[in-house]
Amino acid sequence: MRRKIAAANWKMNLRIEQGEALLEGLLSKNIELKPHQHAVFAVPFPYLTMARDKVAGRANYAVAAQNCSHKESGAYTGEVSAEMLQSVNIPFVVLGHSERREYFNESNEMLARKTDLVLSKGMTPVFCCGEALSIREAGMQNTHVEQQLKESLFHLDATQISKLVIAYEPIWAIGTGKTASSEQAQEMHQHIRNVLSARFGPEVANGISILYGGSVKGSNASELFSQPDVDGGLVGGASLQVEDFAQIIMALK
Ligand code: PGA
Repeated sequence: MRRKIAAANWKMNLRIEQGEALLEGLLSKNIELKPHQHAVFAVPFPYLTMARDKVAGRANYAVAAQNCSHKESGAYTGEVSAEMLQSVNIPFVVLGHSERREYFNESNEMLARKTDLVLSKGMTPVFCCGEALSIREAGMQNTHVEQQLKESLFHLDATQISKLVIAYEPIWAIGTGKTASSEQAQEMHQHIRNVLSARFGPEVANGISILYGGSVKGSNASELFSQPDVDGGLVGGASLQVEDFAQIIMALK
C-alpha cells in the first residue's frame, strides 16, 4: 500500500517555544498511525533537532527540512547542505515549494540537482510542483506540471524515483483559503501518475505517494484524501493549529 502522509509546513513561522508547544500539543493527542500512515513536520532549520527529539520514539512521526542547497559543500555562506541534514538524522527534505521557486528563483534544473543530493544522502525528497492561476486559466496546467516533473526528475532511475514523495500544490490555492476541488486534485494527481507511469512504468508510478497542498484544513482533508490518487497533504496555515492538524492526520486513509 502507498504511504499516506500528513505533512506540516510551518514555513517561516513561530518562535521555538511556540513550535515546541505545538508539537507537544499534537503528540499529547496520541494519534496512532497505521504502518502506512505518516505525520511529517517541515520546520525551520534552527528547530530541526528540537523537533526530531520531540518525535523520537513515536512510530511514523518524522521531521523534514523545508529546503537544502543545490551545492554539495563549500564557500556558500548561509546555505544548508543535504549532507548537514543527513548528519542530524533528518529523513525528509521538501524541495521546490512554489514560494522558493517564486521568491528565490529556484529553477527546474536547480531542483534536479537538489533532488540528486537529497537522494544521495539517503533522505526522501518531497518534491513540490504546481501551476499559477494564469496557467490554469489558460488550460495549460497539465503541460506545466509535466514539464516540472520532466526537467527535475526524468533523469532519475526507477529505484531513485521510487524513494520520492510528490506534492501537487496549485499556487492559486496556497494560503488563499481557496482549495482545489477534490475532483480538480484527483484529475491532476492522476495526470502526474500517468506522466510518471509513461517514464518509469506503472508499477513504480503506483507506488509513489502524491500529496495535495493548498488550503487543506481539518474540515476538507477527509474529502480530499478520499480521492484515489490523493495520498495525503502538505499543509501550511492549518498545520500551525493543534486541533486542525490533528484532524488532518486523522483524515489519512
Ligand atoms: P496552505 O499552504 O495550507 O497555507 O495553503 C500549503 C503550502 O504552501 O504548503
